[in-house]
Amino acid sequence: AACVDLTDILAGMRRGVAFTGAGISTECGIPDFRSPGGLWTRNRPIDFEAFLTSREMRNEAWRRRFAMEAAFGGATPGRGHRALARLLEEGRLAGIVTQNIDGLHQASGVPDDRLVELHGNSTYATCLDCGERYELGWVRERFETRAQTAPDCLDCAGPIKTATVSFGQPMPGEAMTRAGELTAACDVFLAIGSSLVVWPAAGFPVQAKRNGARLVIINREPTEFDDMADLVIHADIGDVFEAATGP
Ligand code: OAD
Ligand code: ZN
Repeated sequence: AACVDLTDILAGMRRGVAFTGAGISTECGIPDFRSPGGLWTRNRPIDFEAFLTSREMRNEAWRRRFAMEAAFGGATPGRGHRALARLLEEGRLAGIVTQNIDGLHQASGVPDDRLVELHGNSTYATCLDCGERYELGWVRERFETRAQTAPDCLDCAGPIKTATVSFGQPMPGEAMTRAGELTAACDVFLAIGSSLVVWPAAGFPVQAKRNGARLVIINREPTEFDDMADLVIHADIGDVFEAATGP
């Protein structure tokens, strides 16, 4: 019955926003953060301060990044990504706001001007001091040939970090602005595959509801905002979208 409701909501949606978390990528083989077996159940996050102040933490961050690349670098979009790309193409969604850094929305054909990456992107790196861009292949080569030591910027010797947002690191201003604009203008806000515990990202569903949008939450586990939502579906994201919009 819940899927009938979702079908109706999607059929009437004109300026929707999909807000995605790691749960949309688990069927692609990439673990989420907080489920059993999730990344933060295995490794403590390296916060921004630790990255900046400790060479050993920078080395560890890069070791983890290359291990992720080896394990999940070949992942391809799943049913959730494909359904959202289709809804965008049909003009029902105005944009996708993601907390994910895995690049799978882009891989499903979503253009950059419709995608907001709140927590950045792990497919390239930048110097934190001067902003110079570095490709992962370049970082990896240096890392491996220097006994797993993270390289520093060639121009200014600053620390090189993936273009992701760590805990304690300032949020990207332009992404926050664009996400706020999409949220303010949306008629339906679909929160998909996120535990909704990380702020300020988790503020967007609240903002959408306050602005009068219909709030839909699709997540295997309950979230703190379920009470506020117009429709809550506790089921597998791929199954939900396959039932609502096809494979
Ligand atoms: P979480 O791991 O916190 O939450 C993912 C949610 O998706 C969980 O509640 C799962 O139950 C649910 N889930 C997993 N697979 C699913 C599936 N196939 N179908 C339905 N639900 C499923 O991940 P996020 O909410 O994305 O940020 O985490 C938010 C932020 O915390 C991340 O962007 C990252 C992390 O720390 C930073 O590192 C700054
Ligand atoms: Zn630099």
